[in-house]
Amino acid sequence: MGYVCLIFLSAFFLVSMTSESFDAMEGDALVIKCPPRSSYVRITWYHTDSNKIIPAEEDGSRIFSSKRFLWFLPTSREDSGNYTCVIHYSNNGTKEFNISVQVHPYKQGICFPSQIRYPNNTGRGKIVCPTFDNYKNATIIQWYKDCKPIQGERYFKGDKYIYINNPGKEDDGFYTCQFIYTHNGKVFNVSATRIFVSNVKYSPLPPQILFPKHKDVIEVDLGAALSLKCQARLGIKKQPIAVVTWDVNSIPVKYFDFSRFHEETVFFEGHDQEYYRETTLHITEIKKEDLQANFTCVAVNEMENTKATVTLQLKAQYGKIYDAYIIYPKSRTSEANFVENFVYQILPDVLENKYGYKLCIYGRDICPGEDTASAVEKRIQKSRRLIIIVTQQLIHHEDLAYDQHIALYNALIQNGAKVILLEMETIGTYEKLQESLKYIIKQQGTVKWKEPPTGQPQSSNSKFWKHVRYRMPLTHKTSRSANAG
Ligand SMILES: *[C@@H]1O[C@H](CO)[C@@H](O)[C@H](O)[C@H]1NC(C)=O
Ligand SMILES: *[C@@H]1O[C@H](CO)[C@@H](O)[C@H](O)[C@H]1NC(C)=O
Ligand SMILES: *[C@@H]1O[C@H](CO)[C@@H](O)[C@H](O)[C@H]1NC(C)=O
Ligand SMILES: *[C@@H]1O[C@H](CO)[C@@H](O)[C@H](O)[C@H]1NC(C)=O
Ligand SMILES: *[C@@H]1O[C@H](CO)[C@@H](O)[C@H](O)[C@H]1NC(C)=O
Ligand SMILES: *[C@@H]1O[C@H](CO)[C@@H](O)[C@H](O)[C@H]1NC(C)=O
Ligand SMILES: *[C@@H]1O[C@H](CO)[C@@H](O)[C@H](O)[C@H]1NC(C)=O
Repeated sequence: MGYVCLIFLSAFFLVSMTSESFDAMEGDALVIKCPPRSSYVRITWYHTDSNKIIPAEEDGSRIFSSKRFLWFLPTSREDSGNYTCVIHYSNNGTKEFNISVQVHPYKQGICFPSQIRYPNNTGRGKIVCPTFDNYKNATIIQWYKDCKPIQGERYFKGDKYIYINNPGKEDDGFYTCQFIYTHNGKVFNVSATRIFVSNVKYSPLPPQILFPKHKDVIEVDLGAALSLKCQARLGIKKQPIAVVTWDVNSIPVKYFDFSRFHEETVFFEGHDQEYYRETTLHITEIKKEDLQANFTCVAVNEMENTKATVTLQLKAQYGKIYDAYIIYPKSRTSEANFVENFVYQILPDVLENKYGYKLCIYGRDICPGEDTASAVEKRIQKSRRLIIIVTQQLIHHEDLAYDQHIALYNALIQNGAKVILLEMETIGTYEKLQESLKYIIKQQGTVKWKEPPTGQPQSSNSKFWKHVRYRMPLTHKTSRSANAG
Protein backbone atom coordinates (compact mmCIF):
# COMPACT_ATOMS: atom_id res chain seq x y z
CA MET A 1 0.00 0.00 0.00
CA GLY A 2 2.72 2.46 1.02
CA TYR A 3 4.73 1.50 -2.02
CA VAL A 4 1.86 2.28 -4.36
CA CYS A 5 1.30 5.58 -2.62
CA LEU A 6 4.92 6.61 -3.01
CA ILE A 7 4.94 5.95 -6.73
CA PHE A 8 1.78 7.96 -7.11
CA LEU A 9 3.20 10.93 -5.25
CA SER A 10 6.51 10.95 -7.06
CA ALA A 11 4.67 10.91 -10.33
CA PHE A 12 2.73 13.87 -9.08
CA PHE A 13 5.80 16.00 -8.59
CA LEU A 14 6.52 15.88 -12.28
CA VAL A 15 3.32 17.75 -13.14
CA SER A 16 4.25 21.12 -14.58
CA MET A 17 2.92 24.60 -13.82
CA THR A 18 -0.72 25.29 -14.45
CA SER A 19 -2.87 28.38 -14.24
CA GLU A 20 -6.59 29.12 -14.24
CA SER A 21 -8.64 32.27 -14.36
CA PHE A 22 -11.88 33.39 -12.78
CA ASP A 23 -14.07 36.34 -13.63
CA ALA A 24 -16.56 37.85 -11.25
CA MET A 25 -18.98 40.69 -11.04
CA GLU A 26 -18.17 43.41 -8.56
CA GLY A 27 -20.23 42.98 -5.39
CA ASP A 28 -21.01 39.31 -6.01
CA ALA A 29 -19.64 36.51 -3.89
CA LEU A 30 -16.77 34.52 -5.39
CA VAL A 31 -15.38 31.24 -4.20
CA ILE A 32 -12.44 29.75 -6.07
CA LYS A 33 -11.09 26.29 -5.68
CA CYS A 34 -7.53 25.06 -5.77
CA PRO A 35 -7.56 22.50 -8.61
CA PRO A 36 -6.11 19.07 -7.58
CA ARG A 37 -8.10 16.53 -5.66
CA SER A 38 -5.53 14.07 -4.27
CA SER A 39 -4.98 13.93 -0.54
CA TYR A 40 -2.90 16.71 0.95
CA VAL A 41 -1.85 17.88 4.38
CA ARG A 42 -2.77 21.50 4.00
CA ILE A 43 -3.18 24.25 1.43
CA THR A 44 -1.97 27.82 1.77
CA TRP A 45 -3.16 30.74 -0.30
CA TYR A 46 -1.04 33.76 -1.26
CA HIS A 47 -1.32 36.97 -3.13
CA THR A 48 1.10 36.02 -5.90
CA ASP A 49 2.72 39.42 -6.24
CA SER A 50 3.07 40.35 -2.58
CA ASN A 51 3.58 36.75 -1.38
CA LYS A 52 1.28 37.63 1.53
CA ILE A 53 -0.58 34.67 2.99
CA ILE A 54 -4.37 34.87 2.97
CA PRO A 55 -5.51 33.78 6.43
CA ALA A 56 -8.51 31.73 7.48
CA GLU A 57 -11.79 33.48 8.25
CA GLU A 58 -11.84 35.93 11.07
CA ASP A 59 -14.70 38.02 12.24
CA GLY A 60 -15.64 40.44 9.51
CA SER A 61 -12.99 39.39 7.00
CA ARG A 62 -13.95 39.87 3.40
CA ILE A 63 -11.26 37.67 1.81
CA PHE A 64 -10.25 34.46 3.53
CA SER A 65 -9.02 30.96 2.82
CA SER A 66 -10.52 27.72 3.92
CA LYS A 67 -8.70 24.55 2.80
CA ARG A 68 -9.09 24.27 -0.96
CA PHE A 69 -11.23 27.40 -1.20
CA LEU A 70 -10.49 31.10 -1.40
CA TRP A 71 -13.43 33.33 -0.54
CA PHE A 72 -14.38 36.82 -1.60
CA LEU A 73 -17.45 37.93 0.32
CA PRO A 74 -18.08 39.94 -1.72
CA THR A 75 -15.64 40.89 -4.46
CA SER A 76 -14.28 44.35 -4.90
CA ARG A 77 -12.61 45.83 -7.95
CA GLU A 78 -9.17 45.91 -6.32
CA ASP A 79 -9.28 42.11 -5.86
CA SER A 80 -8.30 41.67 -9.51
CA GLY A 81 -4.91 40.00 -9.65
CA ASN A 82 -3.08 36.71 -9.29
CA TYR A 83 -3.46 34.26 -6.43
CA THR A 84 -1.40 31.19 -5.69
CA CYS A 85 -2.45 28.09 -3.82
CA VAL A 86 0.32 25.88 -2.48
CA ILE A 87 -0.50 22.29 -1.72
CA HIS A 88 1.56 20.60 0.97
CA TYR A 89 1.79 16.83 0.76
CA SER A 90 2.64 14.41 3.57
CA ASN A 91 6.14 13.76 2.21
CA ASN A 92 6.94 17.49 2.51
CA GLY A 93 6.54 17.93 -1.25
CA THR A 94 4.54 20.92 -2.51
CA LYS A 95 2.75 21.94 -5.62
CA GLU A 96 1.51 25.37 -6.55
CA PHE A 97 -1.10 26.78 -8.87
CA ASN A 98 -1.51 30.35 -10.05
CA ILE A 99 -5.05 31.58 -10.43
CA SER A 100 -5.91 34.87 -12.01
CA VAL A 101 -8.98 36.76 -10.82
CA GLN A 102 -10.67 39.54 -12.73
CA VAL A 103 -13.44 41.54 -11.10
CA HIS A 104 -15.68 43.37 -13.52
CA PRO A 105 -17.20 46.65 -12.45
CA TYR A 106 -20.91 46.54 -11.79
CA LYS A 107 -22.96 48.81 -13.95
CA GLN A 108 -26.68 49.26 -13.52
CA GLY A 109 -28.65 47.57 -16.26
CA ILE A 110 -25.64 45.77 -17.66
CA CYS A 111 -26.07 42.15 -18.42
CA PHE A 112 -23.76 39.59 -16.82
CA PRO A 113 -20.34 40.04 -18.32
CA SER A 114 -19.84 37.23 -20.78
CA GLN A 115 -16.38 36.80 -19.26
CA ILE A 116 -17.89 35.16 -16.20
CA ARG A 117 -17.68 32.03 -18.18
CA TYR A 118 -16.99 28.41 -17.45
CA PRO A 119 -16.38 25.44 -19.73
CA ASN A 120 -18.98 24.89 -22.40
CA ASN A 121 -21.75 22.37 -21.99
CA THR A 122 -22.42 20.41 -25.11
CA GLY A 123 -25.13 17.90 -25.29
CA ARG A 124 -28.68 16.81 -25.17
CA GLY A 125 -29.97 19.53 -22.86
CA LYS A 126 -28.56 19.45 -19.34
CA ILE A 127 -26.78 22.64 -18.30
CA VAL A 128 -25.08 22.56 -14.92
CA CYS A 129 -24.73 25.80 -12.96
CA PRO A 130 -20.96 26.41 -12.81
CA THR A 131 -19.23 26.67 -9.37
CA PHE A 132 -22.55 26.06 -7.63
CA ASP A 133 -21.01 23.20 -5.62
CA ASN A 134 -18.40 25.57 -4.15
CA TYR A 135 -21.14 27.26 -2.17
CA LYS A 136 -22.88 25.33 0.53
CA ASN A 137 -26.60 25.96 0.79
CA ALA A 138 -26.90 28.17 -2.24
CA THR A 139 -30.22 28.61 -4.03
CA ILE A 140 -30.70 29.31 -7.71
CA ILE A 141 -32.93 32.33 -8.17
CA GLN A 142 -33.12 32.57 -11.94
CA TRP A 143 -31.66 31.16 -15.14
CA TYR A 144 -30.99 33.44 -18.10
CA LYS A 145 -30.28 32.70 -21.72
CA ASP A 146 -28.42 35.49 -23.48
CA CYS A 147 -29.43 37.73 -20.57
CA LYS A 148 -33.15 37.03 -20.88
CA PRO A 149 -34.91 35.20 -18.03
CA ILE A 150 -35.73 31.63 -18.97
CA GLN A 151 -39.25 30.37 -18.55
CA GLY A 152 -41.60 27.95 -20.22
CA GLU A 153 -42.57 24.33 -20.22
CA ARG A 154 -39.58 23.24 -22.26
CA TYR A 155 -37.33 23.87 -19.28
CA PHE A 156 -37.05 21.69 -16.26
CA LYS A 157 -35.16 23.16 -13.32
CA GLY A 158 -33.12 20.97 -10.99
CA ASP A 159 -31.34 22.14 -7.84
CA LYS A 160 -28.15 22.95 -9.73
CA TYR A 161 -28.98 22.48 -13.37
CA ILE A 162 -31.53 23.30 -15.98
CA TYR A 163 -32.73 20.80 -18.51
CA ILE A 164 -33.93 21.78 -21.97
CA ASN A 165 -36.41 19.42 -23.51
CA ASN A 166 -35.43 18.42 -27.02
CA PRO A 167 -32.81 21.14 -27.61
CA GLY A 168 -32.08 22.46 -31.07
CA LYS A 169 -29.83 25.02 -32.67
CA GLU A 170 -32.01 27.87 -31.40
CA ASP A 171 -31.09 26.87 -27.85
CA ASP A 172 -27.39 27.53 -28.36
CA GLY A 173 -26.15 30.52 -26.38
CA PHE A 174 -24.92 31.92 -23.09
CA TYR A 175 -26.66 30.46 -20.06
CA THR A 176 -26.34 32.24 -16.74
CA CYS A 177 -27.44 30.88 -13.41
CA GLN A 178 -28.01 33.51 -10.78
CA PHE A 179 -28.06 32.22 -7.25
CA ILE A 180 -27.88 33.50 -3.70
CA TYR A 181 -25.57 32.33 -1.02
CA THR A 182 -26.10 32.99 2.65
CA HIS A 183 -23.06 33.32 4.87
CA ASN A 184 -23.36 34.24 8.54
CA GLY A 185 -26.76 35.63 7.84
CA LYS A 186 -25.56 37.82 4.96
CA VAL A 187 -26.99 37.17 1.52
CA PHE A 188 -24.73 37.36 -1.52
CA ASN A 189 -25.48 37.19 -5.21
CA VAL A 190 -23.50 34.98 -7.51
CA SER A 191 -23.87 34.54 -11.24
CA ALA A 192 -22.02 32.16 -13.48
CA THR A 193 -22.28 31.76 -17.22
CA ARG A 194 -21.47 29.01 -19.64
CA ILE A 195 -22.03 28.41 -23.29
CA PHE A 196 -24.38 25.68 -24.32
CA VAL A 197 -24.01 24.13 -27.75
CA SER A 198 -26.65 21.60 -28.69
CA ASN A 199 -25.13 18.60 -30.33
CA VAL A 200 -28.54 17.67 -31.60
CA LYS A 201 -28.11 17.95 -35.32
CA TYR A 202 -31.67 16.84 -36.03
CA SER A 203 -35.00 16.44 -34.32
CA PRO A 204 -37.51 13.78 -35.21
CA LEU A 205 -41.22 14.51 -35.63
CA PRO A 206 -43.95 11.90 -35.44
CA PRO A 207 -43.74 10.38 -38.92
CA GLN A 208 -46.46 11.61 -41.21
CA ILE A 209 -47.38 9.94 -44.49
CA LEU A 210 -48.46 12.66 -46.90
CA PHE A 211 -49.57 10.22 -49.56
CA PRO A 212 -51.10 7.81 -50.24
CA LYS A 213 -54.11 8.23 -48.02
CA HIS A 214 -54.85 5.22 -45.82
CA LYS A 215 -57.48 2.99 -47.50
CA ASP A 216 -57.06 4.62 -50.88
CA VAL A 217 -58.26 2.41 -53.71
CA ILE A 218 -56.19 2.69 -56.84
CA GLU A 219 -57.64 1.80 -60.20
CA VAL A 220 -55.47 -0.43 -62.33
CA ASP A 221 -55.48 -2.49 -65.52
CA LEU A 222 -54.38 -6.12 -65.45
CA GLY A 223 -51.04 -6.64 -67.13
CA ALA A 224 -50.11 -2.98 -66.87
CA ALA A 225 -47.19 -1.58 -64.87
CA LEU A 226 -47.85 0.53 -61.79
CA SER A 227 -45.79 2.87 -59.63
CA LEU A 228 -47.03 3.57 -56.12
CA LYS A 229 -45.40 6.54 -54.43
CA CYS A 230 -45.32 7.01 -50.70
CA GLN A 231 -44.03 10.25 -49.24
CA ALA A 232 -43.46 10.81 -45.54
CA ARG A 233 -42.14 13.61 -43.36
CA LEU A 234 -39.85 12.29 -40.65
CA GLY A 235 -38.43 15.29 -38.82
CA ILE A 236 -36.22 18.33 -39.01
CA LYS A 237 -32.91 17.69 -40.80
CA LYS A 238 -31.49 14.39 -41.86
CA GLN A 239 -32.64 11.67 -39.49
CA PRO A 240 -30.43 8.80 -38.36
CA ILE A 241 -33.41 6.46 -38.41
CA ALA A 242 -35.54 7.14 -41.45
CA VAL A 243 -37.29 4.34 -43.25
CA VAL A 244 -40.08 4.63 -45.78
CA THR A 245 -40.82 1.28 -47.31
CA TRP A 246 -43.56 -0.84 -48.84
CA ASP A 247 -44.95 -4.10 -47.55
CA VAL A 248 -47.09 -6.37 -49.71
CA ASN A 249 -49.45 -8.34 -47.47
CA SER A 250 -47.24 -7.38 -44.52
CA ILE A 251 -44.08 -8.74 -46.14
CA PRO A 252 -41.41 -6.13 -46.90
CA VAL A 253 -40.85 -5.79 -50.62
CA LYS A 254 -37.13 -6.43 -50.23
CA TYR A 255 -37.90 -10.07 -49.39
CA PHE A 256 -39.54 -10.71 -52.75
CA ASP A 257 -36.60 -12.04 -54.75
CA PHE A 258 -36.71 -11.57 -58.52
CA SER A 259 -40.27 -10.45 -58.18
CA ARG A 260 -42.53 -8.07 -60.01
CA PHE A 261 -41.98 -5.62 -57.14
CA HIS A 262 -39.07 -3.40 -56.45
CA GLU A 263 -38.74 -0.12 -54.64
CA GLU A 264 -36.72 3.00 -54.96
CA THR A 265 -36.18 5.73 -52.35
CA VAL A 266 -35.23 9.36 -52.56
CA PHE A 267 -34.98 11.90 -49.77
CA PHE A 268 -35.12 15.65 -49.74
CA GLU A 269 -35.50 18.62 -47.44
CA GLY A 270 -38.55 20.85 -47.65
CA HIS A 271 -38.99 24.27 -46.11
CA ASP A 272 -37.65 24.76 -42.58
CA GLN A 273 -35.32 21.81 -43.22
CA GLU A 274 -38.18 19.34 -42.95
CA TYR A 275 -36.84 15.96 -43.93
CA TYR A 276 -38.83 13.79 -46.32
CA ARG A 277 -38.42 10.37 -47.80
CA GLU A 278 -40.32 9.14 -50.79
CA THR A 279 -40.34 5.49 -51.78
CA THR A 280 -41.83 4.29 -55.04
CA LEU A 281 -43.00 0.73 -55.36
CA HIS A 282 -42.67 -0.34 -58.97
CA ILE A 283 -44.88 -3.21 -60.04
CA THR A 284 -43.83 -4.42 -63.47
CA GLU A 285 -47.10 -6.16 -64.24
CA ILE A 286 -50.37 -6.14 -62.32
CA LYS A 287 -51.68 -9.64 -61.72
CA LYS A 288 -55.07 -10.80 -60.52
CA GLU A 289 -53.75 -11.65 -57.02
CA ASP A 290 -52.68 -8.02 -56.59
CA LEU A 291 -56.34 -7.05 -56.51
CA GLN A 292 -56.68 -8.94 -53.23
CA ALA A 293 -53.42 -7.69 -51.76
CA ASN A 294 -52.73 -4.99 -49.19
CA PHE A 295 -49.98 -2.57 -50.18
CA THR A 296 -48.76 -0.89 -47.04
CA CYS A 297 -46.39 2.02 -46.84
CA VAL A 298 -44.50 2.06 -43.53
CA ALA A 299 -42.71 5.17 -42.28
CA VAL A 300 -40.36 4.79 -39.32
CA ASN A 301 -38.12 7.13 -37.36
CA GLU A 302 -36.72 6.96 -33.85
CA MET A 303 -40.02 8.10 -32.35
CA GLU A 304 -42.52 5.69 -33.82
CA ASN A 305 -43.87 4.20 -37.01
CA THR A 306 -46.97 4.88 -39.04
CA LYS A 307 -48.65 3.06 -41.90
CA ALA A 308 -50.98 3.64 -44.82
CA THR A 309 -52.51 0.76 -46.73
CA VAL A 310 -53.88 0.95 -50.24
CA THR A 311 -55.60 -1.66 -52.36
CA LEU A 312 -56.02 -2.03 -56.09
CA GLN A 313 -59.18 -2.46 -58.08
CA LEU A 314 -59.85 -2.86 -61.76
CA LYS A 315 -60.65 0.28 -63.65
CA ALA A 316 -64.36 0.41 -64.26
CA GLN A 317 -64.82 -0.97 -67.74
CA TYR A 318 -67.95 0.96 -68.72
CA GLY A 319 -67.27 4.39 -67.59
CA LYS A 320 -69.52 6.53 -65.68
CA ILE A 321 -72.79 5.27 -64.24
CA TYR A 322 -74.67 8.53 -63.58
CA ASP A 323 -75.23 11.48 -65.84
CA ALA A 324 -75.43 13.85 -62.92
CA TYR A 325 -75.01 13.94 -59.18
CA ILE A 326 -77.33 16.39 -57.47
CA ILE A 327 -76.06 18.56 -54.64
CA TYR A 328 -78.73 20.47 -52.78
CA PRO A 329 -79.10 22.14 -49.42
CA LYS A 330 -80.75 19.88 -46.87
CA SER A 331 -83.89 21.25 -45.31
CA ARG A 332 -83.32 22.40 -41.78
CA THR A 333 -86.90 21.63 -40.86
CA SER A 334 -88.78 18.41 -41.37
CA GLU A 335 -91.26 20.21 -43.63
CA ALA A 336 -90.97 19.48 -47.31
CA ASN A 337 -89.97 22.63 -49.11
CA PHE A 338 -89.75 23.75 -52.69
CA VAL A 339 -86.15 22.68 -53.15
CA GLU A 340 -86.83 19.15 -51.98
CA ASN A 341 -89.89 18.96 -54.15
CA PHE A 342 -87.81 20.13 -57.06
CA VAL A 343 -85.01 17.65 -56.40
CA TYR A 344 -87.16 14.61 -55.70
CA GLN A 345 -90.06 15.29 -58.08
CA ILE A 346 -89.55 17.86 -60.80
CA LEU A 347 -85.92 17.16 -61.65
CA PRO A 348 -86.24 13.35 -62.03
CA ASP A 349 -89.53 13.82 -63.80
CA VAL A 350 -87.99 15.95 -66.49
CA LEU A 351 -84.41 14.68 -66.76
CA GLU A 352 -84.96 10.99 -66.06
CA ASN A 353 -88.48 10.25 -67.23
CA LYS A 354 -88.64 12.62 -70.13
CA TYR A 355 -85.05 12.73 -71.38
CA GLY A 356 -83.61 9.43 -70.13
CA TYR A 357 -80.77 10.72 -67.94
CA LYS A 358 -79.68 8.81 -64.86
CA LEU A 359 -79.36 10.94 -61.74
CA CYS A 360 -77.83 10.25 -58.36
CA ILE A 361 -79.74 11.93 -55.58
CA TYR A 362 -78.65 11.75 -51.97
CA GLY A 363 -81.51 10.40 -49.88
CA ARG A 364 -82.91 8.53 -52.86
CA ASP A 365 -79.84 6.77 -54.30
CA ILE A 366 -77.61 6.99 -51.27
CA CYS A 367 -79.25 6.06 -48.03
CA PRO A 368 -78.35 8.25 -45.09
CA GLY A 369 -76.47 5.90 -42.79
CA GLU A 370 -74.26 4.33 -45.43
CA ASP A 371 -70.68 5.49 -44.94
CA THR A 372 -71.81 8.80 -46.32
CA ALA A 373 -68.52 10.42 -47.15
CA SER A 374 -67.07 7.58 -49.15
CA ALA A 375 -70.39 6.68 -50.75
CA VAL A 376 -70.83 10.25 -51.92
CA GLU A 377 -67.29 10.43 -53.20
CA LYS A 378 -67.68 7.20 -55.16
CA ARG A 379 -70.98 8.28 -56.70
CA ILE A 380 -69.57 11.64 -57.68
CA GLN A 381 -66.62 9.98 -59.34
CA LYS A 382 -69.11 7.96 -61.36
CA SER A 383 -71.10 11.01 -62.42
CA ARG A 384 -70.51 12.99 -65.55
CA ARG A 385 -71.93 16.21 -64.15
CA LEU A 386 -72.50 17.80 -60.78
CA ILE A 387 -75.70 19.76 -60.48
CA ILE A 388 -75.55 22.20 -57.58
CA ILE A 389 -78.84 23.71 -56.46
CA VAL A 390 -78.06 27.27 -55.44
CA THR A 391 -80.37 28.83 -52.85
CA GLN A 392 -80.24 31.47 -50.16
CA GLN A 393 -79.36 28.69 -47.78
CA LEU A 394 -75.94 28.36 -49.37
CA ILE A 395 -75.22 31.93 -48.39
CA HIS A 396 -76.54 31.78 -44.88
CA HIS A 397 -74.88 28.48 -44.07
CA GLU A 398 -71.45 29.00 -42.64
CA ASP A 399 -70.27 25.67 -43.91
CA LEU A 400 -71.27 23.78 -46.97
CA ALA A 401 -72.31 20.25 -46.21
CA TYR A 402 -69.57 17.72 -46.42
CA ASP A 403 -70.66 16.22 -49.73
CA GLN A 404 -70.67 19.65 -51.28
CA HIS A 405 -67.11 20.13 -50.21
CA ILE A 406 -65.94 16.90 -51.74
CA ALA A 407 -67.91 17.57 -54.84
CA LEU A 408 -66.39 20.97 -55.31
CA TYR A 409 -63.00 19.63 -54.55
CA ASN A 410 -63.38 16.89 -57.12
CA ALA A 411 -64.85 19.16 -59.71
CA LEU A 412 -62.28 21.91 -59.35
CA ILE A 413 -59.10 20.24 -58.31
CA GLN A 414 -59.32 16.81 -59.79
CA ASN A 415 -60.89 17.75 -63.09
CA GLY A 416 -63.80 15.46 -62.37
CA ALA A 417 -67.32 16.05 -63.50
CA LYS A 418 -68.39 19.38 -64.90
CA VAL A 419 -70.55 21.56 -62.72
CA ILE A 420 -74.00 22.95 -63.51
CA LEU A 421 -75.37 25.59 -61.15
CA LEU A 422 -79.14 25.89 -60.91
CA GLU A 423 -80.10 29.15 -59.25
CA MET A 424 -83.44 28.26 -57.73
CA GLU A 425 -83.84 31.41 -55.63
CA THR A 426 -82.64 34.83 -56.64
CA ILE A 427 -79.29 35.31 -55.01
CA GLY A 428 -78.61 38.86 -56.15
CA THR A 429 -75.01 39.39 -55.22
CA TYR A 430 -72.74 36.36 -55.13
CA GLU A 431 -70.31 38.10 -52.79
CA LYS A 432 -71.13 35.93 -49.81
CA LEU A 433 -70.85 32.64 -51.66
CA GLN A 434 -67.99 30.28 -51.15
CA GLU A 435 -64.93 31.14 -53.23
CA SER A 436 -65.07 27.96 -55.28
CA LEU A 437 -68.73 28.62 -56.15
CA LYS A 438 -67.96 32.17 -57.12
CA TYR A 439 -65.23 30.86 -59.34
CA ILE A 440 -67.59 28.51 -61.17
CA ILE A 441 -70.18 31.29 -61.56
CA LYS A 442 -67.52 33.54 -63.02
CA GLN A 443 -66.53 30.82 -65.46
CA GLN A 444 -69.95 29.75 -66.68
CA GLY A 445 -72.78 31.57 -64.88
CA THR A 446 -75.90 29.90 -63.52
CA VAL A 447 -79.13 28.61 -64.98
CA LYS A 448 -81.88 30.66 -63.34
CA TRP A 449 -85.24 29.25 -62.33
CA LYS A 450 -88.22 31.47 -62.82
CA GLU A 451 -91.30 30.86 -60.76
CA PRO A 452 -94.07 30.28 -63.34
CA PRO A 453 -97.07 32.61 -63.08
CA THR A 454 -99.64 31.08 -60.76
CA GLY A 455 -101.81 28.50 -62.39
CA GLN A 456 -99.38 27.71 -65.18
CA PRO A 457 -97.62 24.33 -65.34
CA GLN A 458 -93.89 23.99 -64.64
CA SER A 459 -93.30 23.23 -68.31
CA SER A 460 -93.62 26.93 -68.96
CA ASN A 461 -90.04 26.90 -67.64
CA SER A 462 -88.98 25.22 -70.86
CA LYS A 463 -86.25 27.77 -71.40
CA PHE A 464 -84.77 26.70 -68.07
CA TRP A 465 -84.78 23.03 -69.08
CA LYS A 466 -83.35 23.85 -72.45
CA HIS A 467 -80.37 25.47 -70.75
CA VAL A 468 -80.00 22.53 -68.39
CA ARG A 469 -80.07 19.97 -71.19
CA TYR A 470 -77.56 22.02 -73.10
CA ARG A 471 -75.13 21.57 -70.21
CA MET A 472 -75.91 17.91 -69.64
CA PRO A 473 -73.97 15.17 -71.42
CA LEU A 474 -75.44 13.32 -74.34
CA THR A 475 -78.17 10.99 -73.09
CA HIS A 476 -77.19 7.76 -71.50
CA LYS A 477 -77.51 5.46 -74.49
CA THR A 478 -75.71 7.65 -76.95
CA SER A 479 -72.87 8.46 -74.63
CA ARG A 480 -72.34 4.84 -73.61
CA SER A 481 -71.98 3.64 -77.16
CA ALA A 482 -69.76 6.61 -77.90
CA ASN A 483 -67.50 5.75 -74.93
CA ALA A 484 -67.40 2.07 -75.75
CA GLY A 485 -66.36 2.80 -79.31
C1 LIG B 1 3.08 31.81 -10.36
O1 LIG B 1 3.38 33.17 -10.64
C2 LIG B 1 4.64 33.55 -10.10
C3 LIG B 1 4.79 35.04 -10.34
O2 LIG B 1 4.42 35.38 -11.65
C4 LIG B 1 5.76 32.75 -10.77
O3 LIG B 1 6.98 33.08 -10.22
C5 LIG B 1 5.48 31.27 -10.54
O4 LIG B 1 6.42 30.46 -11.22
C6 LIG B 1 4.10 30.91 -11.01
N1 LIG B 1 3.82 29.54 -10.64
C7 LIG B 1 3.17 28.71 -11.42
C8 LIG B 1 2.91 27.33 -10.89
O5 LIG B 1 2.80 29.05 -12.54
C1 LIG C 1 -1.18 37.62 -13.49
O1 LIG C 1 -0.30 36.69 -14.12
C2 LIG C 1 -0.22 36.78 -15.50
C3 LIG C 1 0.73 35.71 -15.97
O2 LIG C 1 0.53 34.51 -15.29
C4 LIG C 1 0.25 38.16 -15.91
O3 LIG C 1 0.22 38.27 -17.33
C5 LIG C 1 -0.66 39.20 -15.30
O4 LIG C 1 -0.18 40.48 -15.60
C6 LIG C 1 -0.79 39.04 -13.83
N1 LIG C 1 -1.75 39.94 -13.31
C7 LIG C 1 -1.51 40.80 -12.34
C8 LIG C 1 -2.62 41.72 -11.93
O5 LIG C 1 -0.43 40.85 -11.81
C1 LIG D 1 9.14 16.50 6.59
O1 LIG D 1 9.85 17.53 7.28
C2 LIG D 1 9.89 17.33 8.70
C3 LIG D 1 10.58 18.51 9.36
O2 LIG D 1 11.01 19.46 8.45
C4 LIG D 1 10.65 16.04 8.98
O3 LIG D 1 10.67 15.78 10.38
C5 LIG D 1 9.93 14.89 8.28
O4 LIG D 1 10.67 13.69 8.44
C6 LIG D 1 9.79 15.14 6.79
N1 LIG D 1 9.00 14.12 6.17
C7 LIG D 1 9.32 13.48 5.04
C8 LIG D 1 8.38 12.44 4.56
O5 LIG D 1 10.32 13.78 4.40
C1 LIG E 1 -17.34 27.05 -26.44
O1 LIG E 1 -18.30 27.41 -27.41
C2 LIG E 1 -17.93 28.52 -28.21
C3 LIG E 1 -19.10 28.84 -29.08
O2 LIG E 1 -19.51 27.73 -29.80
C4 LIG E 1 -16.67 28.16 -29.02
O3 LIG E 1 -16.28 29.27 -29.77
C5 LIG E 1 -15.57 27.77 -28.05
O4 LIG E 1 -14.45 27.33 -28.78
C6 LIG E 1 -16.04 26.66 -27.14
N1 LIG E 1 -15.03 26.43 -26.14
C7 LIG E 1 -14.64 25.21 -25.80
C8 LIG E 1 -13.60 25.11 -24.72
O5 LIG E 1 -15.10 24.21 -26.34
C1 LIG F 1 -29.88 27.79 3.78
O1 LIG F 1 -30.33 29.00 3.16
C2 LIG F 1 -31.64 29.38 3.50
C3 LIG F 1 -31.96 30.65 2.76
O2 LIG F 1 -31.51 30.58 1.45
C4 LIG F 1 -31.75 29.55 5.00
O3 LIG F 1 -33.09 29.85 5.33
C5 LIG F 1 -31.30 28.29 5.72
O4 LIG F 1 -31.30 28.49 7.10
C6 LIG F 1 -29.93 27.88 5.27
N1 LIG F 1 -29.56 26.62 5.83
C7 LIG F 1 -28.37 26.40 6.41
C8 LIG F 1 -28.16 25.04 6.96
O5 LIG F 1 -27.50 27.26 6.47
C1 LIG G 1 -28.69 40.70 -5.79
O1 LIG G 1 -29.28 40.86 -7.08
C2 LIG G 1 -30.56 41.42 -7.03
C3 LIG G 1 -31.13 41.40 -8.43
O2 LIG G 1 -30.13 41.52 -9.39
C4 LIG G 1 -30.47 42.81 -6.45
O3 LIG G 1 -31.77 43.36 -6.38
C5 LIG G 1 -29.87 42.73 -5.06
O4 LIG G 1 -29.69 44.01 -4.55
C6 LIG G 1 -28.55 42.02 -5.11
N1 LIG G 1 -28.08 41.79 -3.75
C7 LIG G 1 -26.86 42.08 -3.39
C8 LIG G 1 -26.54 41.78 -1.96
O5 LIG G 1 -26.02 42.55 -4.15
C1 LIG H 1 -55.72 -6.81 -45.94
O1 LIG H 1 -56.06 -6.01 -44.82
C2 LIG H 1 -57.36 -6.27 -44.31
C3 LIG H 1 -57.64 -5.25 -43.24
O2 LIG H 1 -56.60 -5.20 -42.33
C4 LIG H 1 -57.42 -7.70 -43.81
O3 LIG H 1 -58.72 -7.97 -43.33
C5 LIG H 1 -57.08 -8.64 -44.94
O4 LIG H 1 -57.04 -9.98 -44.48
C6 LIG H 1 -55.75 -8.29 -45.55
N1 LIG H 1 -55.51 -9.10 -46.73
C7 LIG H 1 -54.39 -9.80 -46.89
C8 LIG H 1 -54.29 -10.57 -48.14
O5 LIG H 1 -53.49 -9.79 -46.07
